[in-house]
Amino acid sequence: MVEYADVVVDLAYGDSGKGKVTHQLCRKERYTHVIRYNGGNNAGHTIYHEGKKFITHSIPSGVFHGIRSIIGPGCVLNVDHFFEEMKELENGGIRCQGLVFIARNAHIITDEHIMEDRQDNTIGTTKRGVGQAYRDKHWRKGLRAEQVDSLKPYLIDMYEELHASDKNCRILFEGAQGFGLDIDWGDYPYVTSSGCTVAAAIGNGVPPQKIRNIWGVAKAYETYVGLKKFEPDEDIFKEIREKGMEYGATTGRPRQCNWLNINGLLKAIKINGVNKVIFNKTDILRDVGVWKAYDEKDFQVEFSDEEDMKGWVESKIPYDVKVIWSDSPERI
Ligand code: IMP
Ligand code: MG
Repeated sequence: MVEYADVVVDLAYGDSGKGKVTHQLCRKERYTHVIRYNGGNNAGHTIYHEGKKFITHSIPSGVFHGIRSIIGPGCVLNVDHFFEEMKELENGGIRCQGLVFIARNAHIITDEHIMEDRQDNTIGTTKRGVGQAYRDKHWRKGLRAEQVDSLKPYLIDMYEELHASDKNCRILFEGAQGFGLDIDWGDYPYVTSSGCTVAAAIGNGVPPQKIRNIWGVAKAYETYVGLKKFEPDEDIFKEIREKGMEYGATTGRPRQCNWLNINGLLKAIKINGVNKVIFNKTDILRDVGVWKAYDEKDFQVEFSDEEDMKGWVESKIPYDVKVIWSDSPERI
């Protein structure tokens, strides 16, 4: 049975540092399961573990802590990449065998999906075939993990795993992408093809009453990867990109940078029901020495210093939401 579930959601366009937050939560809390609830290997989670840098794409980060790690039914999976990723982790000293599982009803990304995605240049996808796999899933023509022979040893049934046994399950849901890329709430069509909110997490088999903490992850500024114009023509954003190492963990593409947008942030907090917010990479703004954000009317506000900006942002966030400011993961 499910005792509780915590959720990590990204409040922006992905790349806010969910990997770091899940990693720290796994250290602190006594989770029995880490579940990836959406997306596929379009995601790239950077994790610093015992002095080594790892980038995971599909495998939940519970494996770094010996916790059962499930690729949930809300995900799409590239089978070859899955085996490669597992091999890379095992080579890096991270045990996956016996810890990594795939929901039998998760969907498969096929070679045809990838070929089709590679030829499409409309919104600037990661070209991993993710949109095509979700299209076929919803079109009822998809292939499920349970139909793939090589995945048999990894398959589980979410109901059996979480509800049919009398073991207490304490779950961490690890989201991919972010609110600004959500299929419903993002800037359509510049979005990914899955749900990136808490709603998508509970769709993986956990009742809503069991949700405990909802951790919203953002950065002190914003980044976006894709074809729409996001970055204003100002040199400061190039500086932020360099100092913040804002290049895609999956595709290596430069991320477009911009100031924090308070409207988008508040919307993401409210729609997800976030009760704790973490702002990562505050150190990057400290390095460039400029503190700015967009206010409710989309005007740039400049702050006199770090405390000024933090106070302003916190004054906008509902009082019962805990706010934590943090630095780049490699500096912690
Ligand atoms: P897709 O998910 O590959 O179809 O790409 C759709 C949009 O989401 C593109 O703008 C991608 O750059 C973006 N995207 C997808 N996954 C991620 C991610 O993990 N981080 C940041 N952007 C992403
Ligand atoms: Mg990422």
